[in-house]
Amino acid sequence: MYLGLDLGTSGVKALLIDDAQRIVGSTHAPVSLSRPHPGWSEQDPAEWVSATEAAMTALKAAHPAELAAVRGIGLSGHMHGATLIGADDAVLRPCIMWNDTRSHREAAELDANPAFRRISGNIVFPGFTAPKLAWVAKNEPEIFDRVKKVLLPKDYLRLWLSGEHLSEMSDSAGTSWLDTAGRKWSAELLAATGLDESHMPGLVEGTEAAGMLKPALAARWGMAPGVVIAGGAGDNAASACGMGTVAEGRAFVSLGTSGVLFAANASYLPKPESAVHTFCHALPDTWHQMGVILSATDALNWYSGVTGASAAALTTELGDSLKAPSSVTFLPYLAGERTPLNDAAIRGAFVGLGHESSRAVLTQAVLEGVAFALRDNLEALRSAGTELSRVTAIGGGSRSRYWLAAMATALGLPIDVPQDGDFGAAFGAARLGLVAATGADPLAVFTPPETEETIDPDTALGDAYAAAYERYRALYPALKTLSH
Ligand code: XUL
Repeated sequence: MYLGLDLGTSGVKALLIDDAQRIVGSTHAPVSLSRPHPGWSEQDPAEWVSATEAAMTALKAAHPAELAAVRGIGLSGHMHGATLIGADDAVLRPCIMWNDTRSHREAAELDANPAFRRISGNIVFPGFTAPKLAWVAKNEPEIFDRVKKVLLPKDYLRLWLSGEHLSEMSDSAGTSWLDTAGRKWSAELLAATGLDESHMPGLVEGTEAAGMLKPALAARWGMAPGVVIAGGAGDNAASACGMGTVAEGRAFVSLGTSGVLFAANASYLPKPESAVHTFCHALPDTWHQMGVILSATDALNWYSGVTGASAAALTTELGDSLKAPSSVTFLPYLAGERTPLNDAAIRGAFVGLGHESSRAVLTQAVLEGVAFALRDNLEALRSAGTELSRVTAIGGGSRSRYWLAAMATALGLPIDVPQDGDFGAAFGAARLGLVAATGADPLAVFTPPETEETIDPDTALGDAYAAAYERYRALYPALKTLSH
């Protein structure tokens, strides 16, 4: 048995698989997010611990014998968050999250230093970790002075689980401090934010062992002594391990809180100016590219909050068969945007409202707006040298048939829907736990799921979607002049 623990933006998921990688059971416990000021997004690491405790207690109640047989644990989590640790491993302030854009000025300043793009292979985005530390140094100097370690969110969970300060390459590539080609911390980039390697955790590959479960926790959960914790991965690379997105040419689209178009690459192919992220993969000697939009299901959930109808009720109202694009255009920039805009100040919009713009028309516009934002990401990947011929869908939003059909038509690509199952980050993390505990060949373990169904682009609506995408693209420059 192997256990995957995924620290997601909305909660912790614990998932058990057996030696044949069949899912035995899973539990989930929610975590809250606070937005104390516009553009800010924070979580309390103590809640990550209590949610993990809750998910593990529930797993123990449902599957005690299976939990007792676990040999390896894999960790996955939302990326980029700055978890600041002082003396005695005390948490110094709430974690500044991946979708927090308060440090946009600091990000632009660091990005103007050519060493960052050259060594890290990426734009310094406000959501990445280094500019957050620059913000803390400027605005909370008394906290900055007490920082002993900067940990990524899942690596804080590792500290609690094992007592070790360790990380791995895929998540660390999202800090702006990693030499992404060399797979090591860059002293030069750390120095540019007033830090050095002593502030960083040690590094392993995602498939390697990185700590052992503390005996006291093992006893509490009825687990055996000597359970290995794998390096694990940032949530996107972990999902890729779950979906078998490890060989060149394979790709997935993830409709989670954020939206991601993820492509596995055979080599390191940085193209920072495209705003594509080029990170280490969770397997040794492999890399990947991805485009990231900040609000995917987050956009639908926002609209659900405004209308008072659940996201499921809103999408059900549309039916399953794709309609011509809405006369209303939605720009999903509720928290600014990463790929391809790198614009923390931009905000979303509904454009083209009329008396006929019912709740359902606006739902349709929200789903289309997210699909068009991901089409922008497809174009960014193209400009970075990656051509996709099909993608697999994952994430909560992929339960909506309408959204998948809109996405396939907006992207002009067939979308494969995996057979029933849960092939996301927690599953990928469990697979990483298996590899670390057994030394199995990752390529033999990280296989793709069977495809249950393929959703093809709707050719009859292709021209109408192309015209709607052009309208969508034309709106950003106009909106930008108003937002700044
Ligand atoms: C990736 C990113 C998001 C988070 C969401 O760069 O910021 O996908 O990892 O959990």
